[in-house]
Amino acid sequence: MLSEAKNKLLTQVGPGTPMGDYLRRYWFPIAGSAEFDDMSVKAIRLMGEDLTLYKDLSGTYGLVDRHCPHRRADMSYGYVEKNGLRCNYHGWLMDETGACVEQPYEDTANPNNKLKERCGSKAYPVRELSGLLWAYMGPAPAPELPVYEAFTFPNGFVEVVTSDIPCNWFQCQENSIDPVHFEWMHDNWSIRQKGSLGPYASTHLKVAFDEFDKGFTYRRVRSDSDESSAMWTVGRVFLWPLGFYLGEHFEWRVPVDDENTLSIGWFYARVPKEAEPYRQKHIPHWRGPIRQPDGRWISSHVINQDIIAWVGQGAIADRSKENLGASDRGIALIRNRFFDELEAVAAGRDPKGLIRDPEEAKLVQLPIAERRNFLEGKPLAEFFKHPYYSKRLKDFPWHFGQPEAVRKAFCEAMGVDLNGAPLARASEPAE
Ligand code: FES
Ligand SMILES: [Fe+2]
Repeated sequence: MLSEAKNKLLTQVGPGTPMGDYLRRYWFPIAGSAEFDDMSVKAIRLMGEDLTLYKDLSGTYGLVDRHCPHRRADMSYGYVEKNGLRCNYHGWLMDETGACVEQPYEDTANPNNKLKERCGSKAYPVRELSGLLWAYMGPAPAPELPVYEAFTFPNGFVEVVTSDIPCNWFQCQENSIDPVHFEWMHDNWSIRQKGSLGPYASTHLKVAFDEFDKGFTYRRVRSDSDESSAMWTVGRVFLWPLGFYLGEHFEWRVPVDDENTLSIGWFYARVPKEAEPYRQKHIPHWRGPIRQPDGRWISSHVINQDIIAWVGQGAIADRSKENLGASDRGIALIRNRFFDELEAVAAGRDPKGLIRDPEEAKLVQLPIAERRNFLEGKPLAEFFKHPYYSKRLKDFPWHFGQPEAVRKAFCEAMGVDLNGAPLARASEPAE
């Protein structure tokens, strides 16, 4: 249970709020780079700020104020040039640093004027990495953008999925350190959604939470496993401050404002041995819908189920009315860590896990259960024997709504047909 004041500390993200300023000290993903395959300008709201994300004709990304510094026209209706984004109203041109580099009529009428120098736009740096666009909205100097080891996994098919979630980011991120929900929200609810009364899934016998420099891990022992399981020896990663890492996929909960969150998932699947070497030419992006036509939430896929928990807690969960138990020890831990961090940063210290050393940022390893799956790969026959990978070939289990083109590209990479069955290989003799 938290006081209203402490709840506000965790949940308010606008400029000048303690958490808002804190989160701005990190790079976080804001879009899939494939979103810019067939458009060049996008309106985007982040951390309570209305912004415009664009890719100019030279391929440079920029993130500038939503409103033009001239007379406040909407820059998301601007058009890109070789170097920057031009406002569609009177043609002022902004570059990715926020500098106003052209003011066409002013330049003609009074070429010596200094108006340009006074008319910069707010602008934040953007980087592209592994199919994601990342922004840094904090004070200079920006820390290094970490290249997580998973971004270097070879022979993989990757897709990026985003969803707009109408609730505060913190309740989404608390889900990243909540092992017990997996049993009820995913395993047992899925059993019931299939029309079965059970038996229910294996139960949680114990959970543990540990801090490390890049976040926390949670570990579990369930009734069908023991302490030799990777879920106990390694566990899953609460990636500080707004990520979740599960070996072959990441999820980030990026604040849009106090009552909205952008969910961004990055999903890797290693192709079977037979399909190696495989080099993906293009990382697709798709938007994951969250509502059914009747207005109820979609509940068929794992992250859709999570989203139902997040939005169900209210636009901003009222933590003065909750009752935490032993399953929530991780949640209490990370809240307290955030409170400590807010104080530490106010006292001038660098936030937890920031990387300043370019060498360190080149390869950032995180705890990975089943690391062998990603580093060594396995033949297709082993996929079919594996409880998770056999299902992964048949359907994308994380989000509802995978587009057909992405499904096709995935199946081609994996060497299976659209039903997930092995393709007859051309080299095999016909029977
Ligand atoms: S309002 Fe943008 S150029 Fe005039
Ligand atoms: Fe979940």
